[in-house]
Amino acid sequence: MHLQHLTTALLSVASAVHAQSSSTAPGYDCYPTCIPSTVLANQSLSFGRHYAVLNLDLINALVSPLANTSAGAAFISNTACWIDAVHAQNPPPLSIFTRIYFSNAHKPELGPLTPFAAVGGALGTANSSETMLYPAFHVDEAAGDTVLQKTRYYAGAGNGLEEILRAQQIDTVVLSGIRTSGVILSTAYRLFDLDYNVYVIANNTIETPPNNPDINTNILAGILPKIPVDVITIEQAMAALNRSGPAIY
Ligand SMILES: *[C@@H]1O[C@H](CO)[C@@H](O)[C@H](O)[C@H]1NC(C)=O
Ligand SMILES: *[C@@H]1O[C@H](CO)[C@@H](O)[C@H](O)[C@H]1NC(C)=O
Ligand SMILES: *[C@@H]1O[C@H](CO)[C@@H](O)[C@H](O)[C@H]1NC(C)=O
Ligand SMILES: *[C@@H]1O[C@H](CO)[C@@H](O)[C@H](O)[C@H]1NC(C)=O
Ligand SMILES: *[C@@H]1O[C@H](CO)[C@@H](O)[C@H](O)[C@H]1NC(C)=O
Repeated sequence: MHLQHLTTALLSVASAVHAQSSSTAPGYDCYPTCIPSTVLANQSLSFGRHYAVLNLDLINALVSPLANTSAGAAFISNTACWIDAVHAQNPPPLSIFTRIYFSNAHKPELGPLTPFAAVGGALGTANSSETMLYPAFHVDEAAGDTVLQKTRYYAGAGNGLEEILRAQQIDTVVLSGIRTSGVILSTAYRLFDLDYNVYVIANNTIETPPNNPDINTNILAGILPKIPVDVITIEQAMAALNRSGPAIY
């Protein structure tokens, strides 16, 4: 009952994006200014051999409402291209997807006083289509892709993420996902503190209104480089993929 009154900010901000004109939807790369990369154009970026690709919270509830905006369409197309390019590596590296959903209809991961209920509490169980991955994003089971449940902002909250990264001797993670101020920021901080080299692909992240549209830029151009976490373009990530590996997974 209590939870029902807490309409989710995750859902409501996504709906607000849909209602907004695409030209003002904040965004994915050059809104309001192009995101500068922390890696110089003349640097030969490589993710090494022990890298993992994290594709965070790309679920229907968050992605679908953005699909008809120009920023959202670019975000989806860039992120889908990236995921497919990663799968095309031989051998493919570890790809980890996260989905937000609760273990059953009682939503046992949330209590009435859980702050996350205010933003994610309206999402459903694993069976609910809103919590499933948006269809543009392909999971390659043969490649060993892993899909993890999560019930808070941080990608590793309440799941085996850290155990998997440790067991696979991963040293570098490459982040894509939605929202920049949610799972991306939270995960960048935590994995930095756990001693991983963290890369965020700027074009593969998106912020949602009705917040100040500068939030995306402030996080990607201001906060992440200050940590410091590397912020790179999709073009740099694709080129780095060619210099990385053969992946150990
Ligand atoms: C990615 O973002 C950069 C700026 O941050 C931009 O110059 C580039 O055109 C974007 N690429 C795509 C494919 O949208
Ligand atoms: C790369 O570019 C930066 C700035 O443009 C310059 O300072 C640096 O010397 C260059 N490094 C190499 C190896 O060319
Ligand atoms: C986006 O537009 C298409 C075609 O106009 C429509 O079928 C679809 O329902 C729209 N999606 C959303 C999320 O509004
Ligand atoms: C999901 O659906 C399956 C098959 O319909 C059902 O057995 C299962 O109990 C459902 N799980 C949840 C968490 O709703
Ligand atoms: C990566 O390598 C593939 C295959 O050799 C090539 O088709 C593609 O253009 C390269 N991409 C980049 C960004 O260098």
